[in-house]
Amino acid sequence: MSEYPISKVHTFTSVQRLIFGIGAINNIGECVKSLGGKKVLIITDRIITKIGLINNVIKPLEKAFIPYEVWDYVEPEPSFDVAENSVEKIREGDFDLVIGVGGGSSLDTAKATATFKNADGKVRDYIKKIIPKRDVPLILIPTTAGTGSEVSNVAVFGLLDEDFKYALFSPSLYPDMALIDPMMTVTMPPNVTANTGLDALSHAIEAYISLESSPITDIFAIEAIKLAGRYLREAYANGDNIEARYGMAKASLFAGLAFGNAGTTLGHAIGYAHAHIHHSPHGKCVAVTLPYVLEYNAIANMERLTYIAKLLGECVDELPLRDSAFGAAIAFKKLLDDLDMPSNLKALGVKREDIPNLAERVFKSPKHVARNPRKVTKEDMIKLFEKAYEGIL
Ligand SMILES: [Fe+2]
Repeated sequence: MSEYPISKVHTFTSVQRLIFGIGAINNIGECVKSLGGKKVLIITDRIITKIGLINNVIKPLEKAFIPYEVWDYVEPEPSFDVAENSVEKIREGDFDLVIGVGGGSSLDTAKATATFKNADGKVRDYIKKIIPKRDVPLILIPTTAGTGSEVSNVAVFGLLDEDFKYALFSPSLYPDMALIDPMMTVTMPPNVTANTGLDALSHAIEAYISLESSPITDIFAIEAIKLAGRYLREAYANGDNIEARYGMAKASLFAGLAFGNAGTTLGHAIGYAHAHIHHSPHGKCVAVTLPYVLEYNAIANMERLTYIAKLLGECVDELPLRDSAFGAAIAFKKLLDDLDMPSNLKALGVKREDIPNLAERVFKSPKHVARNPRKVTKEDMIKLFEKAYEGIL
């Protein structure tokens, strides 16, 4: 019998057109033309231009005689200031299409650039407000396998005054097209492969246990967990392994399709809560505390947590359901160990006296908390952070 009542109605939304596969990038000229683009603003970061990865985008544009300009001032984990600057850039010129190239930071900045070109005021004015309709076409090209931003309606920026990241949500933040070419991810160094890959896996796991999951998001979430469990270690160990890069590109895409509709849960709320202390990459922030989140959630949905453990390769078949559900946390911790990632907050410079404040900051992401399968209380969060601080599962 289905876990979902047959009387329940589910909706699923995503990017209008998705082009996936090795060589997908060569379609960029045709994509721009089909959207009516005459002058393109490319939003990216300095590393992408420095290592020449941007050439994979600009060469096909030149071949198609499409004028473009590259704005490569996106910073890792960008603040609203970066978004305001990119919007200023597009407002200065006569650009009529935006292409975002890079990891989540560049893709989110490209979303803001296209969406707020003709909007009143600043991007930060729209925190928790209705975001205007985007009238500039937008194409997104990921160079990491993690963010899922290319298929989601979310853009995340840090607000420096509050030392906190805010997620903007709107249908305007879906691009018109996403071009996902696994070959664009091959140059990622191992630490970026690990950080972004763990983010993708966290998206899939959290979408699968989200209270807003559906039979449609489950398909993508399950497949993404399976793919990341199978390929992330190999992509980290050998970045030239094209099969592993292909598998992770697919994992990231499927995870994006899942969490873009089901949302993420306590794992991301906690990741945002402690990020300001050490400013680690987003994937690491979420992943370092995820074993403890999975442990916390284990008794709330034992069937699903057991299935996650199995998908990640844990042998739990002979165990009672209660014990097998805790296998998900153990499997995730093993993955952190294999990817040379920390699995306790002490290692990231968090202090024990920070814990009460961190527990409170979890509730700055109320939607993530509301979607979590187990009710979240401040007292429980203090206990969870104490475990995460010491690294005790
Ligand atoms: Fe994430």
